[in-house]
Amino acid sequence: MITADELRKKFLDFFSAEGHTIIPSASLVPNETDPTVLFTTAGMHPLAPYLTGEKHPKGKRLVNVQKCLRTGDIEDVGDSSHNTFFEMLGNWSLGDYFKNDSIKWSWEFLTDKKWLEISPEKIKVTVFEGDNNASRDDESIKIWRECFKKSGISLEVYDKEKGNNKTARIFPLPKKDNWWGPAGETGPCGPDTEIFIDLGKPVNSEKCSNGDECQPGCKCGRYVEIWNNVFMEFNKQRTVNSEQEYEYVKLKQKNVDTGMGLERMLAVLNGLDNVYETELFAPIVEEIEKLSEKKYGESKDTKKSMRIIADHIKAAVFIISDGVVPSNVGRGYVLRRLIRRAVRHGKILGIEKNFTKQIAEAVIGIYKETYPEVEGNKEKIFGELEKEENKFRKTLGRGLKIIKNYELRIKNNGENVSGKEIFDLYQSYGFPIEMSLEELEKRGVKFSEDELRKGFDTELKKHQELSRTASAGKFKGGLADGGEKVKKLHTATHLLLAALRKVLGDHIFQKGSNITAERLRFDFSHPEKLTNEQKQEVEELVNEAIKKELPVSFEEVKLNEAKKMGAMGVFEAKYGDKVKVYTIGDSAQGGSPFSREICGGPHVKNTGELGKFKIVKEQSSGAGVRRIKAVLIQ
Ligand code: ALA
Repeated sequence: MITADELRKKFLDFFSAEGHTIIPSASLVPNETDPTVLFTTAGMHPLAPYLTGEKHPKGKRLVNVQKCLRTGDIEDVGDSSHNTFFEMLGNWSLGDYFKNDSIKWSWEFLTDKKWLEISPEKIKVTVFEGDNNASRDDESIKIWRECFKKSGISLEVYDKEKGNNKTARIFPLPKKDNWWGPAGETGPCGPDTEIFIDLGKPVNSEKCSNGDECQPGCKCGRYVEIWNNVFMEFNKQRTVNSEQEYEYVKLKQKNVDTGMGLERMLAVLNGLDNVYETELFAPIVEEIEKLSEKKYGESKDTKKSMRIIADHIKAAVFIISDGVVPSNVGRGYVLRRLIRRAVRHGKILGIEKNFTKQIAEAVIGIYKETYPEVEGNKEKIFGELEKEENKFRKTLGRGLKIIKNYELRIKNNGENVSGKEIFDLYQSYGFPIEMSLEELEKRGVKFSEDELRKGFDTELKKHQELSRTASAGKFKGGLADGGEKVKKLHTATHLLLAALRKVLGDHIFQKGSNITAERLRFDFSHPEKLTNEQKQEVEELVNEAIKKELPVSFEEVKLNEAKKMGAMGVFEAKYGDKVKVYTIGDSAQGGSPFSREICGGPHVKNTGELGKFKIVKEQSSGAGVRRIKAVLIQ
């Protein structure tokens, strides 16, 4: 028996002894200098600048335990090993050691008596098989061969022609399996070698592709991927002036990025075939059993629902603790979806009362020593969960009734459900589209996901236009030109962001914005108070831009076009295929415009309409975030 804490400590101790400096886990919310992902999905993510050449203050060898969140696998949650939130144990070489040390240390840590003492017999590995971008990773094969040889095992390489899955220990696989990164659309990446533990038999034999001859990568759960060593020596970047969209360019330095899933490793080391029976989940599952008066192992469905609740509320606790609140866009939407899905599975288990707070309490109980922030933010976490649960419960029952009606209608007269109807469910009952689709599927209704999504997106766009017009018109009447004032302040906000970046630097990103007819409020990433000189400089820059009477224009382009144009904004937010890019100032004569942002609008047509810009307050708005309130004087 090994505890999670012992495992974390062993990993850190092992790599410290090899000259690695221990660094703390970064937030789940990525630094805004990296707009490529919504959440931190791997330990390498906060380190991306150092993989491309920037010097890390703690040196070239680093090790840590990183909080991670992945929503790509959300549909797999409920099986034996997929989670949204998980901890990743990782060691890094930033242009220091490469394949040889990396693989040998992994081997030693896994198999040596002093460390994890896993039998080498149980280990199988995969490597990159090679393609146009990089050749087969024969170097790693050679190093693995030496490692296995020390334990008296000769390494047989898998060969498709021979079909030797059963006896092979190393499997060369294509890019889709053995190439890691970039975490977003572009960035550092490279071939990897993945380490699997062979449990000897499928966990879920229905999903096994090839009986007892299956191999790493099979969905049956027999092979648990526990560690991934990535040899990051490439940068995936957009190709300029070429038909090809991307190219892989060698980085200045060769890096190693490894990631071991703590929960999976803990399960394996304790002889469990799934993560939910480890100490990192068991107390949560017990709480769900109490609340639902059902047993975890009672049926397949009970197990699945309990797993989903445990996973999702754990993720929600960590997300809220890192500063996100439920909403309809970006990170807030992911959070909303996690909480609502958990509540729905609670309902399936027969829990009718609010229960997420109790689950959160169990989560905090497990993690408060390791991640004190979850204890520190306890009240906020409970509050947000409670609010979201109340909101959702109000509408859930009604929404399910409507889905039931759709089902009956489809079964009785064959009239299928439309994207608009799915949108109405979202709009009126808060049903995320994924949930409606899941409900329909559960009821055996046949539908085309593509069509429904398209229909949904069209309605969403229409709705956004409408609500924009409505909010612009909201002030009409009592406050005759209120909508106009908001519009002007909105344009001023774009000027402000651009000016802040010019005065303070490229680390400035929008963290929040709120506009009333009287003032703008703008939150941005910056570690310290602005000096009077800086404030003055920002004001002057904005006022100069106003005096110059710069044109404000927009165009609708594809999201990746917007990125290429260098537009600021939340790139992940999918407002459908195309986004609006607002440009202030002319770039026709060459050079860059004063400001360029992805934004829904509306804006004034010319900065000359704005009057005089004045900052009325500058204050802190949380760790690393400053807030400016400003007005326009006519
Ligand atoms: N970045 C690698 C992964 O997440 C280690 O698998």
